Amino acid sequence: MKKATIKVDKDFRIARIDNRIYGSFIEHLGRAVYGGIYEPTHPLADDQGFRKDVLTLTRELNVPIVRYPGGNFVSGYNWEDGIGPKELRPRRAELAWSAIESNQVGVDEFAEWCRRAGTEPMMAVNLGTRGPEEARTLVEYTNFKGGTYWSDLRIKNGWKEPHNIKVWCLGNEMDGDWQICHKTAQEYGRTAREAAKVMRWVDPSIQLVACGSSNAQMSTFGSWEATVLEHTYDLVDYISMHVYYGNRDGDTANFLARSMDMDHFIHSVAATCDYVKAKTQSKKEMYLSFDEWNVWYHADADNAKAEKWREAPAYNEDIYTFEDALLVGSMLITLLRHSDRVKIACLAQLINTIAPIMTRNGGPAWKQTIYYPYLHASLYGRGTALNVLVDAPRYDSKDFTDVPILDAIMVDDEAGGLTLFAVNKDMEEDLTADCCLRDYPGYQVSEHLVMDCGDLHAVNTEAEPERVIPHASTEHTLSDGILTVKLPKLSWNVVRLKKMQ
Ligand code: AHR
Repeated sequence: MKKATIKVDKDFRIARIDNRIYGSFIEHLGRAVYGGIYEPTHPLADDQGFRKDVLTLTRELNVPIVRYPGGNFVSGYNWEDGIGPKELRPRRAELAWSAIESNQVGVDEFAEWCRRAGTEPMMAVNLGTRGPEEARTLVEYTNFKGGTYWSDLRIKNGWKEPHNIKVWCLGNEMDGDWQICHKTAQEYGRTAREAAKVMRWVDPSIQLVACGSSNAQMSTFGSWEATVLEHTYDLVDYISMHVYYGNRDGDTANFLARSMDMDHFIHSVAATCDYVKAKTQSKKEMYLSFDEWNVWYHADADNAKAEKWREAPAYNEDIYTFEDALLVGSMLITLLRHSDRVKIACLAQLINTIAPIMTRNGGPAWKQTIYYPYLHASLYGRGTALNVLVDAPRYDSKDFTDVPILDAIMVDDEAGGLTLFAVNKDMEEDLTADCCLRDYPGYQVSEHLVMDCGDLHAVNTEAEPERVIPHASTEHTLSDGILTVKLPKLSWNVVRLKKMQ
């Protein structure tokens, strides 16, 4: 058995965690919307056609914010297609994913779904085929009380109260040539600035996210962020980041080390923001919106064979393994470690399309493996993130050196609760971690959850929905301020402590 130590100190505060770090994303892509959140013919559909089983799971996850309607989809989207009487809404050839869009769900329905799911919408505007004018009219439609053309149209459509959407993305991945009407950094920076101006003039209370690079491998990475922020620094609140990882060559050690890449990515974007802050002599801190992150690769082969121009095709339906859940756990820990800069993050996506929740049309909904680390972090990872000093064995992999086998973070909920999240990446051995809690006298373990599995490739399916689930563990002791906990080889661990009265 290997050994590690974890030092916690009340003063090692990283930041108060913004709950929106546990956000998610629903795009008009595959069966995320149709067959995912909305299926009016389903036996569990509510009066608006929303699947009640999906609403229940979304509420269980306590998702604070959901990005919508894209993704790549938004860069060709006419938001006006999705409002008003459903029978009059146009069917469109949707270019981002070569599908047919029926427009039966639009901004009004999505805002209503968010109310029913207990979450908040994060709306993206189209800065591909469209521009500042359509962005500002959308803000007027959703956020203006009434008495103008667009707000009165919302009222006429049956939505008396404004939706009051607070967070807005200025386009999506505009640096990528795959994007409908992709732009250079100069072109995008100018457009984003003008869109930000007029959107804020309609509603000064909104928060805005400028597009960062689509990923850190883009040839323009770094210079894109710098140029875009030089145009927009004073008008936006966040710059976006996106990352997806895959284990295409079956190298588990290297795959699980990818959280180090995410960590480096965050450092680099934060540094670029600070460069522009210095250059523009601004006093304002630019925050990060990590609004797409996940594992994504399992459906590559199916996608290549998929037939085009169908309505809600089963596209990008990654079936997640236990191994993926481990990396998702490490990515969550990485986001928490950077909670001083990352204020919004969206697990991409929420239902069916690269998602923790799966459904069958007309059938049940079930939880994928990655559901569980996301659930635990969302439920127990709220409060203040505390930096922990980890001393653990390290390993080298194909792309990384000195990878700690133990990834850990502590969250103080400021109400007498402390939670340790930890991933043991060791492929061979269990780990005993001694966690020094002398700063937290009078605490006891209230719950200890472990997700481990003999088969890295195990998945949850409709037929076997509970093949990979967490279980309670008693393998911990707490005496003289030292919490000793067994972290099985290749495992996700949650140790919750409560202050005794
Ligand atoms: O989340 C799936 C896609 O990944 C999004 O549409 C796009 O923004 C990203 O490339």
